[in-house]
Amino acid sequence: MRAETHILGIDVGGTGIKGAPVDVSEGRLLTERYKVLTPQPPTPEAVAETLTEVVRYFEWDGPLGVGFPAVVKNGLALSAANIDNSWIGKNVESLFARATGLPVKAINDADAAGIAEIHFGEGNEKEGSVILITIGSGLGSALFTDGHLVRNTEFGHVILDGQVAEHYASNRTREQEGLSWPAWGKRFNKYLHHLNRILSPDMIILGGGASKAFHQFSDYLDVPVVVRPAKHLNGAGTIGAACHAYWSMHRQEQHRSL
Ligand code: BGC
Repeated sequence: MRAETHILGIDVGGTGIKGAPVDVSEGRLLTERYKVLTPQPPTPEAVAETLTEVVRYFEWDGPLGVGFPAVVKNGLALSAANIDNSWIGKNVESLFARATGLPVKAINDADAAGIAEIHFGEGNEKEGSVILITIGSGLGSALFTDGHLVRNTEFGHVILDGQVAEHYASNRTREQEGLSWPAWGKRFNKYLHHLNRILSPDMIILGGGASKAFHQFSDYLDVPVVVRPAKHLNGAGTIGAACHAYWSMHRQEQHRSL
């Protein structure tokens, strides 16, 4: 039988939709993640269909926590940088709940990764400001002050030398422009210096697909802040999405029983 603290975490990304059951009390994946390529174009209907494949693969019949690559407020997608524009204004939670027949809670994908790291990873117990940056198809961000999340920060969209930062320093840009790790590392370093100038964080954690290649570019980072790869690497988003779903569903139950 499924334990109450087991939630299926799903990370919707620009290239892959990855999911695994998560134990939210320990903040860990219970199995390897199962990945399906993100459909192109990533329209609401196509993404919902692919996400349902992940649910079916695990024969899952409990709640889902979804990390979604957009500003997400009260379940609504309010931006669309690496997904189809038709997502804007759509209710991500009701759409996935209808497609799967399961209860769903959604949060921005980088905020989800941040939640996993602040509670169960590199940022654990860390006071002051911690920023997590996910390096993937875009650059996602999560900001914590004394452990509290400021949601939907979108620091991947700050302007750096006249262009959107994620167009200059994401992992997709590295691949598309065929940049070596040192060449890309220097760009990313410039981005981190910019973030440091405007936010003065106490720690920077790096997640997303490129976090597992940290050793390839860490020598090119000289920002005067502790920079670490996420303990859960690219799995952080899946873990955090499940934790967020569990905590918000249980908060709702507590409110109902008052
Ligand atoms: C989106 C963010 C997202 C990030 C990583 C950006 O393009 O605007 O909402 O967190 O990509 O997926």
